[in-house]
Parts: sequence; structure tokens; C-alpha cells
Amino acid sequence: MEFLFNCKLMKLMGGGNLNSLVCKIVFLFIAVLILRSLLFPSNNLVVYMSNKNVGFVVEQQKFLEVPQIVWGLNNQKIAFARACLTARMLNRTLLMPSLSASLFYKEVDLLKPISFDKVFQFDKFNELCSGFVQLGRYSDLTNATEVIEIQKGGGRKWTVERDLDHLRELKNGSFDEYEVVKIVGKNPFLWHDHWPVKDYANVFECLVLVDEISQEADRVVSMIREVGKNNRYVAVHMRVEIDWMIHCKKLEQRLNTNQICSSKNEIIERVGNIEGLNKSPPIVLYLAVADKLLQNSSILEGWKDGFLPYEKKKLGVDKIYGKYSYLVQSAIDYEMCLRADVFVGNSFSTFSSLIVLERTQKMIKLGVSSMCGSDVKWPSFAYNIQGELNGPMRWVTNMSDSSLQAISYGTNHISC
Ligand SMILES: *[C@@H]1O[C@H](CO)[C@@H](O)[C@H](O)[C@H]1NC(C)=O
Ligand SMILES: *[C@@H]1O[C@H](CO)[C@@H](O)[C@H](O)[C@H]1NC(C)=O
Ligand SMILES: *[C@@H]1O[C@H](CO)[C@@H](O)[C@H](O)[C@H]1NC(C)=O
Ligand SMILES: *[C@@H]1O[C@H](CO)[C@@H](O)[C@H](O)[C@H]1NC(C)=O
Ligand SMILES: *[C@@H]1O[C@H](CO)[C@@H](O)[C@H](O)[C@H]1NC(C)=O
Repeated sequence: MEFLFNCKLMKLMGGGNLNSLVCKIVFLFIAVLILRSLLFPSNNLVVYMSNKNVGFVVEQQKFLEVPQIVWGLNNQKIAFARACLTARMLNRTLLMPSLSASLFYKEVDLLKPISFDKVFQFDKFNELCSGFVQLGRYSDLTNATEVIEIQKGGGRKWTVERDLDHLRELKNGSFDEYEVVKIVGKNPFLWHDHWPVKDYANVFECLVLVDEISQEADRVVSMIREVGKNNRYVAVHMRVEIDWMIHCKKLEQRLNTNQICSSKNEIIERVGNIEGLNKSPPIVLYLAVADKLLQNSSILEGWKDGFLPYEKKKLGVDKIYGKYSYLVQSAIDYEMCLRADVFVGNSFSTFSSLIVLERTQKMIKLGVSSMCGSDVKWPSFAYNIQGELNGPMRWVTNMSDSSLQAISYGTNHISC
């Protein structure tokens, strides 16, 4: 608790002349306020303590409201983080947005809103992100809420610069009187990026799955760990379905490169060449693949000796997954890849890129100094780029990048 506070501390903070009675009264008053805000969390009073003159500024909380967050899990995570960072920029609390349970983004009726707190823990988010960004509930709003609706632009002419200028205008004091700034528009947070990678990483770190989903992920992770004798597994995010292949071939042409599309055979070859992996066979592989590939068992064939490939179906968990919406299924697959001992993905996939970002964060937390070294914990690789010994390239996220662009559009500069 940040408010842990006693009279000695108050003296240190400049209240040296306070006699102990006054000190105790002030202390009690603060304690009551804190207790009150703990007991009645919907209370709108925010207490700021200034350490210079031990005074209070009581301010009404201000909010930012955003439209439903849409598209795939990765796009939703990125757009959610942008909504948070926009709220941070405007000194406002983000009203907890709806995510989308389904992937059908063209038909609005099928967008199936799902409350953020059905997927991620609300209180945990605020605890972990305290001092950085905060989420509020609609019930936090006062009765006489003053809302101003702001249309965000879109389309080709709405450039990053215009978007940023527009956000800066919203910081203008003339909006202060509104309790809620409500941003409307077509997916206003999918496109424009104004923040460094570190800021996104800070937000992602605060996203903790609700117990029901994380227990499901625990179950699937422990099943795959039980397959091998040493409890280790390698997750491979295989993008080889037809629609991806069409998309990536076009991208290769446009960017004049051949380092985006990898065929199934190339993936098998490069994963098979990862240094050190062969030391302790069998090596259990979890193949994270699009659902339509589960109908085609050829994805499990052709792997080198000593590799035991599994996907949801062979693992027998397609029924578990089947109970859940698209978004939750994706979130479970994401966990499978995040927690794998080794991860191999495609550096042009946003899903893979977000996983590597979080794995890089985990390495940084462990204090790993040379993250591209061969003996690191949580190593990741990109199979679309050739690395040493014809294996995949080692991959970490460059946390000093000034924007998330590389992650949202794909790159073959992968820092190792
Ligand atoms: C936001 O809050 C910070 C710190 O409380 C303050 O310095 C800044 O002026 C505020 N900005 C706006 C636009 O209110
Ligand atoms: C809020 O509004 C409702 C209905 O308009 C009213 O019954 C209630 O007393 C109001 N509450 C406060 C705190 O003003
Ligand atoms: C804030 O908005 C008002 C009215 O639109 C304008 O006159 C003023 O120049 C703006 N201030 C800043 C700092 O942009
Ligand atoms: C299964 O995938 C292989 C290549 O990955 C492809 O050649 C084959 O046509 C697919 N079969 C079906 C039934 O989709
Ligand atoms: C990481 O990004 C920073 C800022 O863009 C750049 O200066 C640096 O060279 C990059 N590091 C690597 C290893 O790519």
C-alpha cells in the first residue's frame, strides 16, 4: 500500500513542526479516508497527497470512453493498450471497454461484445498498472455526468500526425469540465501509433487472465508437459494456411523479400536445426495452428525423428477449447506459446510478435544480459529468417523501439 504512512514519516516529509497530537489527528483522518475508499470503491474522490505541505487536493476523477474493441486477440490487445495510453495522455481513467468475443468484424451484429473483466482481471489490472494507467467502471460515474463526444477521423487522409494533433487538442483545458470524453469513430485505436514499445509492454504486463481461463490454460500446458519425459515443450506458431500464404506472397512481392512466407517443410527443417534441442529427445512440439488446419493431419507429418508434434486435436483438448469463444480460445493458445520453454514463430505475425515481446520482458525481469545467447531461458526464434546452422533466427523484441510499428506490421530486423 502506497499510503503506508506514519507520523515519523510525516516529519521527515517536512512536517517537522507538527506536534504529535496534530500529527495523530491528521494520520487518523487519512486512515479514515483510505478505509472509506477501500470499503466503497465506487467513491469518486481521489485523494492526492502533496508531500511538501501535507495538504489535500480533492479532485473529481475524469474518464475516457472508447468504442468496442474489435478484431483478433492481438489487434484487440494493441487497440486496448492504445486506448489506455490515450487515457494516460489525457490524464483520464479509461472506462472499462468491451472486447469482442468473435472474429467476424465485417458484420457488426456478429461482433459479440464481451466485457473486459470476463477475460482479464479488472482489479489486478489496476493494481499492476497503478501509477501508469487505470481502468474505471461505468458505476464510478456521477449522476450528473457531463459527456463530450469526439469523433476520431479515419481513412487515408487521417494521418498519424493529424491523429496526434487531434489527441493533443483534447488535452486543451477546455475539455476539463467534462467528466467523460467519449471517443467515437470506426476502430479509432487500431491504426495510429504514438507510443514507444515500452509503454505497450507496461500495459500488456497488467493483463492477467481471469481464473477460469488461466486454469484452462494451466490444464492444457500440464497435458503437453506430461507428454515428454523432461516436462519441456517447444511451441511453434505455424502460419501455413491458404489465406495467410496468399497474403504473405503478396507482401513478399511488395517488400521485395523472400523472408516472410515459410512452407511447412521449411518450418520443419529449421525447427529441427535449433541448436541444443536434440540433446534430450523426444522433443514435444505444440503446434499453434489455425482451426482449419486441425482438419488436416498432414501438419503432424514429416517432422524429424525425436520430435513429437501435437496440436489441440491430437492432445485431445479441442473439446475444451470448443466450449469457448474465439477470443478465449486464442487467449489459451497465446498462453501455450508464452509459457513454452522455446517458442518459434513468424516475425511477420502479430500474434508471434506479441508473444516474443512478452517473452523478452520475462528475460529482462530475470536479468538476462545477452538475450541472444545460446543458453538463455525463454528463447524465441523466427522460422521465416535463416539463422545459424540452418536453424531459425534468434529473436528478441527491441524494447527501445520508438513505436510498435515493427510488431504490428511485421519485420525481419529482429534484434539478434
Ligand atoms: C496531468 O497530470 C500531471 C500530473 O498530475 C500534470 O503535471 C499535468 O499537467 C496534467 N495534464 C493535464 C493535461 O491535465
Ligand atoms: C441519481 O439519479 C437517480 C435517478 O435520476 C436518483 O434517484 C438518485 O437519487 C440520484 N443520486 C444522486 C446521488 O444524486
Ligand atoms: C484551447 O481551445 C481554445 C478554444 O478552442 C483555443 O482558443 C485555445 O487556443 C486552445 N489552447 C491551446 C493551448 O491549444
Ligand atoms: C492438407 O495439407 C496439405 C499440405 O499441407 C495439402 O497438400 C492437402 O491438400 C491438404 N488436405 C486437405 C484435405 O485439405
Ligand atoms: C533498437 O532500437 C533503437 C531505437 O530505434 C535503435 O537505436 C537500436 O539500434 C535498436 N537495437 C537493435 C539491436 O536493433
